[in-house]
Amino acid sequence: MTGDKNLQALLAAIHPVVREGEYVYVLWPHGRPLAAGIQAAVREAEGLTVVLPRSEADGLGLPYDFVAAWITLQIHSELEAVGLTAAVSRALTDAKISCNVLAGFHHDHLLVPAGEAARALEVLAELAAENSHQPRPELVLRNETAEDREKILALTAEAFAISPATGLPAKGEPIEVDVLRQLFECEEYLPEFSIVAVLDGEVVGHVISTRGWVGEHELLGLGPIGVTPRLQRHGIGSALMNETIARANAAGESGIALLGSTEYYPRFGFVPATSLGVLPPEEIWADSFQLLPLALWPGGVHGTFRYAAPFAGL
Ligand SMILES: CC(C)(COP(=O)(O)OP(=O)(O)OC[C@H]1O[C@@H](n2cnc3c(N)ncnc32)[C@H](O)[C@@H]1OP(=O)(O)O)[C@@H](O)C(=O)NCCC(=O)NCCS
Repeated sequence: MTGDKNLQALLAAIHPVVREGEYVYVLWPHGRPLAAGIQAAVREAEGLTVVLPRSEADGLGLPYDFVAAWITLQIHSELEAVGLTAAVSRALTDAKISCNVLAGFHHDHLLVPAGEAARALEVLAELAAENSHQPRPELVLRNETAEDREKILALTAEAFAISPATGLPAKGEPIEVDVLRQLFECEEYLPEFSIVAVLDGEVVGHVISTRGWVGEHELLGLGPIGVTPRLQRHGIGSALMNETIARANAAGESGIALLGSTEYYPRFGFVPATSLGVLPPEEIWADSFQLLPLALWPGGVHGTFRYAAPFAGL
């Protein structure tokens, strides 16, 4: 017999199955030939205990107290697999379901109060789920490549299908898609600041920062940033923001400017740009135009921010 000794793997694959009918424990009358319906027997000095279908015990007029449902754990476990039955009975005990365990050569069996079978199955399903850890795919953040571009444009179209500015569906292709298309080709494009998030081989997020200025002082202008809608609010946007900030600090950049939600970006350290003396290109952007002063922020940078050329048409 070769069974899986790894307890977690065993618990993940216990596959409980309920046998039909109800079962009872009875003390078998001394000297009577064993009935065909007996499912389990334990010989003790005091006598023979058997487990058999309730209907059969009734037919033989044998008394019993405990009426049980019979659950078989279909997993093929080695008898010496340490801790399996302990873990199962602990889970059932925690759920206040009493349980007698019988170990057969091939499988373990649980006798639980007849009315509790459905709940016991739920507890066992939960136990299996808790122990079935699929390896989580890793989120990879890397520079965008030319091959990624169509996918990035498609995900940007999806992410901005509802305009974050108006909350309304975009008419036709969202404007951010064409801005991005132009940013890929413009002079202010900086390869290490066009970053994709890849999950399981799929491009699921993208952020771009391009060269911008206040007077002669160079800054980064961040945007657009987009995450595939079905994976939003799972931390991918934050991962892209944090990667941008780390790269910007490492590259000796002094600050990052963006237009965006005053609810979202302050968590990364962004403040209204005007509070640092930097004015938005459009006055009405007000506090939504934000700036993150990086480690090398010099102070004394005053003036109106100028984005990369493709933003001019916005
Ligand atoms: C904005 C966006 C890039 C954020 O990425 P994400 O992976 O969804 O975000 P994260 O999982 O890292 O962060 C989720 C948190 O940000 C908040 N958040 C996300 N987008 C927000 C927004 N536009 N306004 C306010 N809060 C926002 C969520 O409520 C959540 O908050 P919590 O952590 O307190 O629960 C993504 O939602 C997106 O692509 N949105 C559509 C396009 C867009 O609006 N781009 C930004 C234009 S400025």
